[in-house]
Amino acid sequence: MATPYTQARNLPLPPSSLIQSRTYIVTGANTGLGLAAAQNLALLGAARVILAVRNLSAGEAAKAQIDAAVADATTGVKTKVEVWYLDLSVFSSIKAFVKRADAELERVDGLIENAAVGAGGGERAEGHRLTVAVNVVGTLLLGVLMLPVMARKAKEKEGDTPRVVVVTSRAGFDAREEWEGFGGEPVKGMDGMDGIEAIKLYSLSKLTETFAVHHLAREVITVEETGVIVNLVCPGLCITDLARHAPPEFKEQLRQLQETAGRTADDGSRTLLHAVTAGAESHGMLLHSCEDGEKDVPDWVKDDLAGQKKTWEAVARELETVEPGCVGKMVA
Ligand SMILES: NC(=O)c1ccc[n+]([C@@H]2O[C@H](COP(=O)([O-])OP(=O)(O)OC[C@H]3O[C@@H](n4cnc5c(N)ncnc54)[C@H](OP(=O)(O)O)[C@@H]3O)[C@@H](O)[C@H]2O)c1
Repeated sequence: MATPYTQARNLPLPPSSLIQSRTYIVTGANTGLGLAAAQNLALLGAARVILAVRNLSAGEAAKAQIDAAVADATTGVKTKVEVWYLDLSVFSSIKAFVKRADAELERVDGLIENAAVGAGGGERAEGHRLTVAVNVVGTLLLGVLMLPVMARKAKEKEGDTPRVVVVTSRAGFDAREEWEGFGGEPVKGMDGMDGIEAIKLYSLSKLTETFAVHHLAREVITVEETGVIVNLVCPGLCITDLARHAPPEFKEQLRQLQETAGRTADDGSRTLLHAVTAGAESHGMLLHSCEDGEKDVPDWVKDDLAGQKKTWEAVARELETVEPGCVGKMVA
């Protein structure tokens, strides 16, 4: 994780011309970085922003905050902000969400996969540890199911290239020792690890996303084939309530880090907006601080192409169990 001396502040927002008239989905948009990103998209003139949340009343409160911020701004934009149900720990909810998006949205220019959890090791969902179900399997299932929908809608509308942004964390790079113990099977490894600390599990789940998306984007789904840009972004250490579902030791460690080095949620959200407007050169790349972040990916991650492939294949097997054929449909 970056120190206060290296973490840039007052990051830029993209020009509104890259956001206006477009439709975005932001997962986990009721609080933290997701709420700040959704609000910035609305303030920059997005036509439609879907707040994809598991707690509808928290989503409605977020919508009210965004609507008030847009009304206060004198830009004259009229963004339609909607609250849709999505629980990433329930795979039928993900499938239902994608069906609804296909039926009700004319276009989806950006999917910001921001939702995540740092739960204790004992909590489980869909046969996995909760952190694994939400941050890895649920997040990548949503991306894989949405990608062909977004691609088809963009073709029908002759629109811009849509983006799928997976919000990850460089905190994963601190978990090398445990990672290497998984032998390329991180889902099984994380699910089966006894007595794993919540913070370590969270870091490993984010590292799994990074390994899997590096291979998926670079080797499985080129932009030429799918017409969709897929990138990863680390928002940096930000002051949010990320650890609220976590055990006390995770809360305390994160609080101390946030106090000494944290960015505001608004600043952190700007990295998400940068990723959702970044060009085809960002495909398969890690971005942070509104720039190319690959230079900060350690060699043991960057150079492990076999490990990236094996990780994607392990995740893909899980996705195929939930929705047979979904991986092949990305390039169909
Ligand atoms: N904050 C940081 O310093 C930092 C650093 C690096 C990366 N990140 C990443 O940035 C993203 C946003 O983090 P944040 O700090 O804004 O955290 P946050 O304030 O805890 O927000 C997380 C969001 O994810 C939602 N969520 C959790 N489980 C879900 C589920 N099963 N289904 C749907 N939504 C679910 C939460 O909903 P509820 O409110 O209902 O729980 C909340 O809206 C995460 O991917 C995180 O890993 C954060």
